[in-house]
Amino acid sequence: MSLDVPSAQMTRYGSNAGQPLTRRDGLLKVTGRATYAADNHPEGLLYAVTAVSTIARGRVTSLDVAAARAHPGVVEVLTPENRPPLAHDPDDKMPPFGFRIEVLQDNTVRYANQPIALVVAETLEAATEGAALLKPQYEVAVPRVSPGNGARFDPPAVGVGGLPKVEHGDVEAGLAAAARVIEGEYETPAQYHNAMEPHAVVAEWHGDKLTLDMPNQALAMSCASYAAYFGIPAENVVIRSPFLGGGFGSKAILNGPQMLAMIAARMLKRPVKLALSRAQMYGPVGHRGNTWQTLRIGVDERGHLTALNHRSISATSSFDDFLEPAANASTHLYASPALRAEHEGLRLDVGTPGPMRAPGEASGSAALEVAMDEAAEAAGIDPLEFRLKNYAETEPGTGRPYSSKALRECYAEGAKRFGWASRPLAPRQMRDENGFLVGWGMGTALFPCPHFPAEARATLRADGTALVETAGADMGQGAWTALAQIAAEALGLDPDRVTFHSGVSTLPNGGVAGGSAHTASAGLALHNAGRDAIETLAAFATADPASPLFGAGNIGVVARNGRLHRRDDERRSESYVEILKRAGRLEVVGTGQSARDPEHAQSYAMYSHGAVFAEVKVDPDLGQVRVARLVGAFAAGRVINPRLVESQYFGGMIWGASFALHEEAIVDHRTGRVMNADLAEYRVPVNADIPSLEAILIPEEDPYVNPLGVKGVGEIGITGTVGAVANAVWHATGFRVRKFPIRIENLIA
Ligand code: MOS
Repeated sequence: MSLDVPSAQMTRYGSNAGQPLTRRDGLLKVTGRATYAADNHPEGLLYAVTAVSTIARGRVTSLDVAAARAHPGVVEVLTPENRPPLAHDPDDKMPPFGFRIEVLQDNTVRYANQPIALVVAETLEAATEGAALLKPQYEVAVPRVSPGNGARFDPPAVGVGGLPKVEHGDVEAGLAAAARVIEGEYETPAQYHNAMEPHAVVAEWHGDKLTLDMPNQALAMSCASYAAYFGIPAENVVIRSPFLGGGFGSKAILNGPQMLAMIAARMLKRPVKLALSRAQMYGPVGHRGNTWQTLRIGVDERGHLTALNHRSISATSSFDDFLEPAANASTHLYASPALRAEHEGLRLDVGTPGPMRAPGEASGSAALEVAMDEAAEAAGIDPLEFRLKNYAETEPGTGRPYSSKALRECYAEGAKRFGWASRPLAPRQMRDENGFLVGWGMGTALFPCPHFPAEARATLRADGTALVETAGADMGQGAWTALAQIAAEALGLDPDRVTFHSGVSTLPNGGVAGGSAHTASAGLALHNAGRDAIETLAAFATADPASPLFGAGNIGVVARNGRLHRRDDERRSESYVEILKRAGRLEVVGTGQSARDPEHAQSYAMYSHGAVFAEVKVDPDLGQVRVARLVGAFAAGRVINPRLVESQYFGGMIWGASFALHEEAIVDHRTGRVMNADLAEYRVPVNADIPSLEAILIPEEDPYVNPLGVKGVGEIGITGTVGAVANAVWHATGFRVRKFPIRIENLIA
């Protein structure tokens, strides 16, 4: 029997997929009724506070544990002396996102803000005071926090399992044959995620069952990992993560402080809450590591690339191996007959970096897009024209076609809307009415389309409503809303009739909310679950002589607005309510899985594409830079909810502007401490920094990326934007700044 449920063909049947619905969780959030992890107060709750190191390298020689224990209200003090053993060695990295877990292994201090003890008390105040009484003494070693004194190494992998070196063609020969070669060194700083909601957890044990209220981007994966550390079956761990106040990658990976709270709860047989302070988030829960990048680009007489060499020295900790995969941003964007992307690791006395929104793509494309601008300048070609000459029609190295290619349209539409055609080639040509220097710059945006396995369940109920379930995560991106729209479409129901449950690990595995892949991954599972439920329903109706659909089995039915219609005669239809009633069923349950077609994965390169155009204004006397305008055009497959997609692009573009002009963790080289570990001095843009944004949604049908045709929109906005802003600053001032963030002192002669 054939069944018309909208799928990759983008059939709509009047459903709400494609509509700009507002967020399902919006009202709960703005009225304060959304419950975040730290809002939970189970009976008998204890409060935990980590004591953290004030040095970046050395050893804790003493802690006044007795003083802390003697403090009224303090229940327990965990140190390396008494921390209960774990079933899995926390020094042993556990796949798939395996990194060392910092849980009081020993007295060694490896970075500033490293937890060195956990104080548990009846109140938050007592725990905080107890932690202050520990008065740690240290044996201090000189911290290694700059490229000059950290050890270099060849990394086995970059990012999460990425290739440390990609090479095809002869780069040196390509450079030798070039009419012009540009070479530059680019530097990106350490950045910290700074989610509004800190890393928090309420951990509670019942026997060998562990319940966790915690923000989490990867529920099933985390349950399995925690279970292994505690030596219990994965199904014994339940994570409730209905809302996340931002994640950006930092809540996809296990961390020490949260696990210490779990350890304490088990030890004390009482629920334990821990919430990091803002300052404590600068260390043990990941960050974007520094990079020192070198780019060499060869260009021939006609303005085509002859060679592209991108090298990144990426910082990591002294004890683990997450490296910002910056150079890999150059492996899939521009066509060069010779290309080498390579990484070197640098060990510093910092907390281990981790994935942070567009890890590698953000920092790498920042350098690449500035370098491309320099190459265009050297060749005397307009930067957009230069990119049009050089963007890759097929994936560099593999020659695989892109699953869809709307990049040319992104360039064209973005340029048109921005007014790029009237841009003077030379810098320092434009002023505004107040005498500020005006500059226009651009950058190409690109982000891969990973796909995570996921599962979902759809229950059609006798009253014509449905419940759809998947253990996904909404960290603010609007997953609840978009995923419910996908499910409603598959079920042929108005989204208002579909209840969406997510954010609890007991539901079918919703995969990882990361890699900008959540809508595609969990969405496809929901779509398939909805389809499955409708198929069961259709089987009842077409086999029932009392149904107007009887005998339509070979012809097929259409699911729309709570009714099944005969495909050949849409006037003959029956409601879900009627069908279920006559079948004597209270509900039908459909299940769905999500996976990418392996043949498509083999044959096509899958990316979201875009182009970002920036206008900046620079005070000619003071060097102060303001972003005046950002226009981004993005093609990311099928748009489920344009309001949310636009908002994701805005978020990415704002982060890009932030990367270019504001964000930087500044380390005191004497102590190894981050000096601006707070939201007053770790600069992120405020409204006045971002005056006007436009995101153009370029329609794109990609039949290969997944059956829904959906691609990621969360991270791509940062890529392209950083370079666009930096290139606009050059165009305004003539200063080519290769160190981020761009500072006033870089723009004063
Ligand atoms: Mo993101 S860095 O893929 O959560």
